Amino acid sequence: MTNLDFEKIVDTSDEWITTRTGIKERHIASDTMTTADMSVEACKRAMDMAKCRKEDIDLVICGTVTPDYRLPSNACMIQKELGLTNALAFDVVAACTGFINGLVIANSYISTGLYKKALVIGAEKLSAIANYKDRTTCVLFGDGAGAVVVEPSANERGIVSSFMKSDGRLWQLLWMEVGGIKNPYTPEFPYDGSDKIFMNGAEVFKVAVKEMAKAVENVLEKANVSPSDIALFVPHQANLRIIDALAKRLKISPERVFKNIEKYGNTSAASVPIALDEANREGRIKPGDYVVVVAFGGGLIWGSALIKW
Ligand code: COA
Repeated sequence: MTNLDFEKIVDTSDEWITTRTGIKERHIASDTMTTADMSVEACKRAMDMAKCRKEDIDLVICGTVTPDYRLPSNACMIQKELGLTNALAFDVVAACTGFINGLVIANSYISTGLYKKALVIGAEKLSAIANYKDRTTCVLFGDGAGAVVVEPSANERGIVSSFMKSDGRLWQLLWMEVGGIKNPYTPEFPYDGSDKIFMNGAEVFKVAVKEMAKAVENVLEKANVSPSDIALFVPHQANLRIIDALAKRLKISPERVFKNIEKYGNTSAASVPIALDEANREGRIKPGDYVVVVAFGGGLIWGSALIKW
């Protein structure tokens, strides 16, 4: 779906969307394609790349706020579809930070020896919850999925340090009012957008830049690594201006910042794994490189990880 397509449904322009967000187009899943469907596709490709057998997967964690059903988890749907009968599967509800949160959980479980091989997924069908009558938010979001296989490493490679934090006081900056048990849908429910994403973009923007910068500084300091040692910075793709402000604040030069927001928009939990996959397949990351991922989302919640690739 291009910016020109949006010009036909809300009062906006390609020029406004491009200059304020950096987005040119986003992918919208078909009516019949679900978040679990996209996740399964991503998992197959990740398992292929990692040359991993399905019997060996013992943990499946899916970051999503758009699961196929309220019950059970999306991760259980993925487990069933892929026949991962030896695994524990559960979801993480951490909005755009869901993938990084899942990665940190997988890393902790694997480090303690509880599990050996995890699939961590970030997947969203945001088109199902975007308010296509609200021009301030609908132009931002897209659908997608990404996945990684995480396993113990015999050398120093892997997740070197991580940081996760949230501030529940700010939950109403980015939320959906109707659809949970507090405000369930009723037969009389009037369409006023309260069952779709609401976001106070300007406020979220300010907190996002500040807290993501602190999260990255935290993981670097803990590992005694300086910003100049980072080979590739892979931030959540929410807004090009946020990414640029963040990189500037952290003194990471533009050629070391991965950006694909132009093609996908904000895919929430899927954004970091999609970006990591593209960067990897494009040969922008070599074994031994330091890679930093960071994300921020509704909760508000944010997190970062320093990875030795
Ligand atoms: N097309 C045209 N005009 C639009 C528009 C659109 N799609 N959306 C908003 N506008 C208008 C507003 O109505 C406002 O008009 P006004 O000045 O007459 O009231 C003007 O543009 C500026 O709006 P504002 O909200 O201040 O714009 P902004 O520069 O803050 O950009 C966002 C808006 C949403 C792009 C930006 O705030 C953002 O990216 N925020 C963070 C998003 C994010 O990271 N999300 C969560 C993390 S996952």
